[in-house]
Amino acid sequence: MKTILVTGGTGFIGSHTCVELLNDNYNIVIIDDFSNSKPEVAEKIMKITNKKVKLYEGNVCDTELLTKIFKENQIDAVIHFAGYKAVGESVAKPLMYYRNNIDSTLTLLEVMSDNNCKKIVFSSSATVYGNPERLPLDESCHLSATNPYGATKLYIEGILKDLYISDNEWSIAVLRYFNPVGAHESGLIGENPNGIPNNLVPYIVKVANKELPELNIFGNDYNTPDGTGVRDYIHVVDLARGHVKSVEKIFEESGIDYYNLGTGKGYSVLDLVKTFESVNNIKIPYKIVARRKGDVAACFASTNHAKEKLNWEATLTLEDMLRSAYLYSKVIKKGY
Ligand code: UD1
Repeated sequence: MKTILVTGGTGFIGSHTCVELLNDNYNIVIIDDFSNSKPEVAEKIMKITNKKVKLYEGNVCDTELLTKIFKENQIDAVIHFAGYKAVGESVAKPLMYYRNNIDSTLTLLEVMSDNNCKKIVFSSSATVYGNPERLPLDESCHLSATNPYGATKLYIEGILKDLYISDNEWSIAVLRYFNPVGAHESGLIGENPNGIPNNLVPYIVKVANKELPELNIFGNDYNTPDGTGVRDYIHVVDLARGHVKSVEKIFEESGIDYYNLGTGKGYSVLDLVKTFESVNNIKIPYKIVARRKGDVAACFASTNHAKEKLNWEATLTLEDMLRSAYLYSKVIKKGY
């Protein structure tokens, strides 16, 4: 049985990935500082899978704690999710983003090296494609950063590349996520952002629950079929399964490779509103407002590389994503 250290394992994508890994018989050790999650999530992961996880509270920048984790556990590979991820906040607090996201990765890679653990899956983002060079986006498209959050992802991709060049024993999978949404079908884990959400689906969910009066649609004059922004929304459970396939891959062979994790399909903001309304039988009031600064018209993935190399593709539908996202919000509203 292999043991995977999951940094940020109680976060949105981390928690779903832990569930899929446990279902596939991996041992899981989590490190999380709960800056954007709660310790109870670990209990929910154990409840869903009926398996144990080992949980360490702390920040990945803490060399002593990481060293202790590697001493106390035989870690075979790492999935590195932990990091700040809010685009707007990164523009306001760039140093906080650079310090946390870069420092934690350097510390982790140093401690891994010291302990001769050279297998890592890194949570990157489609944000590294900046303004898309062409659509669908494939892994060889031009990379650029449009904000400090995106820059941290890009720098870390560069650090990992240099590390591999220096030592070919490393085995590295860089995963570029498109727009992860939805929740586990149990309704026990999902996305629960603090405050007013920046992202579309959490915002729609709050409107559905009457916690916000209406959705603001940021522009309907884009060059897209209905004028609203088009994105590649992917069910978080599909995404989590992509991590399991990536872990299998890094155990098979050394190297560094980059994978888009998306569905390859683009849906507009209005597609999401209509689908949410029909699967959940609830009206979502909305109004059209000005475009949001920094947004692009359309962004969706070419999924061929992940299909060929990881033998992975998304199978869940937009309906599954929007039904499960709403179900989870109702469960947490009840205070479960
Ligand atoms: C955003 C981030 C991206 C990050 C991703 C995580 C920006 C510029 N990009 O992507 O770096 O990796 O989240 O999932 O923030 N929309 C509305 N009203 C809203 C919210 C969103 O109309 O209240 C529209 C947006 O204009 C866009 C679409 O919904 O067309 C999706 O927006 P969002 O969920 O914020 O994701 P991205 O902007 O694609």
